Amino acid sequence: MRSDLVGLKPYGAPHLDVPVQLNVNENAYPIPDVVVESMRSAVDGHFAGLNRYPDREFEDLRGHLVSYLDGVNRRAGGAVDLSPEMIWAGNGSNEVLSHIVQAFGGPGRTVLGFTPSYSMHPLIATGTGASWQSSARNDDFALDADAVGAEVADVDPDIVFLCTPNNPTGTSIGLDVIEAAYDNCSGIVIVDEAYAEFSRPARPSAMTLLAGRPRLVVSRTMSKAFACAGLRLGYAIAAPELIDVLRLVRLPYHLSDITQVLACTALEHADVLLDNVDRLIDSRDRISQHLRDVGFTVFPSDSNFVLFGNISSPQTLWQRLLDRGILIRDIGITHHARVNAGTEVETTAFLRAIDEILGEDPGILLPAG
Ligand SMILES: Cc1ncc(COP(=O)(O)O)c(C=O)c1O
Repeated sequence: MRSDLVGLKPYGAPHLDVPVQLNVNENAYPIPDVVVESMRSAVDGHFAGLNRYPDREFEDLRGHLVSYLDGVNRRAGGAVDLSPEMIWAGNGSNEVLSHIVQAFGGPGRTVLGFTPSYSMHPLIATGTGASWQSSARNDDFALDADAVGAEVADVDPDIVFLCTPNNPTGTSIGLDVIEAAYDNCSGIVIVDEAYAEFSRPARPSAMTLLAGRPRLVVSRTMSKAFACAGLRLGYAIAAPELIDVLRLVRLPYHLSDITQVLACTALEHADVLLDNVDRLIDSRDRISQHLRDVGFTVFPSDSNFVLFGNISSPQTLWQRLLDRGILIRDIGITHHARVNAGTEVETTAFLRAIDEILGEDPGILLPAG
């Protein structure tokens, strides 16, 4: 075993089969029937051809992603000139991120992130043999452009990770923060926008900064807003020269034919699949309001989950909810926990359970002051 991997912990939230699962930021709603039917008939014609390798360059999928993203940018009021050569895709955005870090990280290189953030960023970095450096966010988990610019200039990383909306805090950053990171280093700046579709009002994507910034790359996923976590499809947008380099590190034919067909079908039904985003935003806002009303601190969320604090013991709260069949995430931040926006029914069950638990044991909240 490589000595630099000794002592590292693999990624893994507890996977427990309970009725209300609000712990891994999935979309709470299943794929609507009309999309299931389209997916079924789309794959039907592809079984006999599985003797052949799939399209290595996933050209049809690239075209579908460009059409979807053009719509996203138009609605957010930002003009972005996208082309298929600017698109990369992989089996989940985790794989896309690992392609980028394999190509631009590796032994002797430094990757910088602003924590708390997505726990896979350091694992992906160290997995390539790069060294991970983390810089702490402000007390309210926000980031400001001056501080980020100064930190990036100081560390001079080969890769910077920025995540917006950020997991696990739900908070967003302005485009000025991304510009500051880019302007203060000569490395690759990755903006992880896994939850971007849950921002209301829609914020302009870091894609709007791509023109003239060949070291900037934006990653996104179909696992969250598109409700396709089980499909495994993530993608990245960057200058064609950067995307071209990723072809050196991916394994041949990394995207199966079935994955490509199902992802294209899902993108053709983007409007139906994204219909539930507004419902999830309502649930998220309901959770935020209720938790705030009963005395927790709540961080403004642009995602499909809520980080809340002022908890005396997150482990105790986690266990009491689990006793009631509800799974949330103890993300290891002292006095904080994270909960997903569920369906309306799941959200009601969670909020009722919170009220019951507080009724039985008000000490779940930290003492005032
Ligand atoms: C910030 C962030 N990025 C990327 C991912 C990876 O998602 P996937 O590999 O399913 O696309 C996640 C998953 O939770 C995430 O929270």
